[in-house]
Amino acid sequence: MSDTIVTLRDVTADTVVAVCDLETNEDQKHFVAPNALSIAQAHFSPIARFQAVFAGETPVGFLMWRPQDDGSVCYLWRFMIDRHHQNRGYGRAALTLLFASARSDGFKRMLTSYVVGDAGPHAFYIKLGFRDTGESRPNGERLMDLAL
Ligand SMILES: CC(C)(COP(=O)(O)OP(=O)(O)OC[C@H]1O[C@@H](n2cnc3c(N)ncnc32)[C@H](O)[C@@H]1OP(=O)(O)O)[C@@H](O)C(=O)NCCC(=O)NCCS
Repeated sequence: MSDTIVTLRDVTADTVVAVCDLETNEDQKHFVAPNALSIAQAHFSPIARFQAVFAGETPVGFLMWRPQDDGSVCYLWRFMIDRHHQNRGYGRAALTLLFASARSDGFKRMLTSYVVGDAGPHAFYIKLGFRDTGESRPNGERLMDLAL
């Protein structure tokens, strides 16, 4: 676990290339879209919000989420920590910040979904407090749920 301070920051003209250069390990690539694609998709989904994960002054990851339904539920759509920066507690720190922010915005629950497979994020999400709902999205991803 690193002592480096983790923050969530808006992606800017100065950081967008570095954020798009972040990538997962090869065997993790089918679990999350490239950040450039996520940022492109966000421009066609006006309710989506995305931020970079910084460790100190270094961009190390990316997350994207959107409100869902009546405004009490939000959905973590994309989340990744760059392969060079994994297993240092940055993923946990980033989601802990996101939970606090969503809570203060009035959200009561956060959903996410994951692709089933070896080296997938399911066990990570369980450690962060998500629980399986038993449901799947139309694309086959399994849904998880967290009370904020
Ligand atoms: C999943 C991911 C975000 C985790 O980020 P990370 O910064 O490496 O995670 P952390 O270091 O904060 O780990 C927190 C805890 O989860 C555990 N953990 C992390 N990844 C794990 C995995 N794939 N399987 C099981 N446990 C995992 C860590 O060992 C740690 O456990 P501990 O608290 O008992 O020590 C990162 O591996 C990743 O980007 N994966 C590829 C993309 C992906 O799957 N995204 C999610 C789907 S949208």
